[in-house]
This record gives sequence, C-alpha cells and structure tokens, in this order.
Amino acid sequence: NIKALIFDLDGVIVFTDKFHYQAWKKVSDKMGIYFDETINNRLRGVSRAESLEIILEKYNGELSDQEKAEMMEEKNIIYRELLETMTADDVTDDVRDTLKKLREGGYKLAIGSSSKNAVFILEKVDLLDAFDGISDGNNITHSKPDPEVFLKAADFIREAAENCLVVEDACAGIDAAKAAGMTAVGIGDASDYGKTDIQISSFKELPDVINRLLAQA
Ligand code: G6P
Ligand code: MG
Repeated sequence: NIKALIFDLDGVIVFTDKFHYQAWKKVSDKMGIYFDETINNRLRGVSRAESLEIILEKYNGELSDQEKAEMMEEKNIIYRELLETMTADDVTDDVRDTLKKLREGGYKLAIGSSSKNAVFILEKVDLLDAFDGISDGNNITHSKPDPEVFLKAADFIREAAENCLVVEDACAGIDAAKAAGMTAVGIGDASDYGKTDIQISSFKELPDVINRLLAQA
C-alpha cells in the first residue's frame, strides 16, 4: 500500500537540468571538451563527481584529482549563480497543487536527490516546508542507481520501502527505486524507460495513479 511519495528534485520538481547543462557547458568549453545535450542526459541523477567522469570521456589526457576538484568547484559556482535567479515562480502550479493535495490526502512526502544543492534549491522556490524528509547528496555515499538515497528518505519519514512510490526523470533513478524495492513512476526523460512501473506525463496524474494502485492491492 502506497503511504509515501519520494520525489527526485532536478527534472521532477524543478527544471534545474538546464542550469546543470549550462554550467557544465561553460566548464567543458573552457577546456576544449566536446559536450552536448545527449551527453547531458546521461548526467541525470548522477553525482557531480560521476558527471565529470562522463564529461571527461571526451577529453584526451589525464587530469589530477586536484584539477578535477577545481573543475567541479567551478561548475558548482556557475550553477549556484544560475540557481540564485530561481523564485517560487519556477515551480509549476501543477507541481505545487499536487504536492498540497497529496499531503492533505495523508501521504508522507520526501525528496530523494543526488544533489548537494537540494536544500538551497527548495528554499529558493519556497518548497522546503512541503516535504517531511529530505535525503540528498549530503547524506549518501553511493549515488543512483544505488538505492541508498531512497532508502535513507524512507528512513527519514519512517516508512517501509514497499510502501513508497518514487517519482523520477532519470533512468539511474528508476533503477535506484527498483533496487530499493519501491514502485517507480517515470516522468519526462525516464517515461519511456523499460523498468518504469508507471509512466505519467503530468504531475496531476499522481493522485489517480495512487488510487488505482490502492484499488488493485
Ligand atoms: C541531480 C542531477 C544531476 C547532478 C546531481 C548532483 O541528481 O540530476 O545531474 O549531477 O544532482 O548535483 P549537485 O547539485 O550536487 O552538483
Ligand atoms: Mg532528476
């Protein structure tokens, strides 16, 4: 029985994926590394350090750990500047109203994100209070597709994994949800991924999705 929902943040609640792209693009351009939207799609749900490794597949040469750390730092500074421009208007009514409705329906809500900037983003868009627990890049040692981020989220809201439904836009996130023993709902990029249990095209569908699952149970 679904009693809680765990949401990925980037690409699900907010569309910061375009900012990730812009920031990595600046850093890779500076280094003369080829980077495009297709490569960017592979960075969804993946930690900052692993994202850099994917970008460096196009780099002919060796970088020291120090140089890699500097690139990640530079990317994050550019990314945070872009995040600074966000306001409550960067969350759609669809998302805000659905979260409210789900909470009123008695469901616990959590965030399960690989990002270390999750709380900062939620503050900027005025959604910090909308969630009962936040599991993010600061409390995990393994990022998606490892289930850790979602298992921690379930822990934080004291819910059994099998009662949790995860909403994700990344294939790595769908894999993580399934590895955690949770129901995986795909939206956006992950919606045509084979391992997704249920696909939705809009947030509004979530209450109906849960009702259908409850009716089947
Ligand atoms: C999310 C995004 C990834 C990003 C990761 C780390 O999972 O989908 O693209 O690399 O967070 O974000 P951070 O804000 O910690 O650099
Ligand atoms: Mg995402």
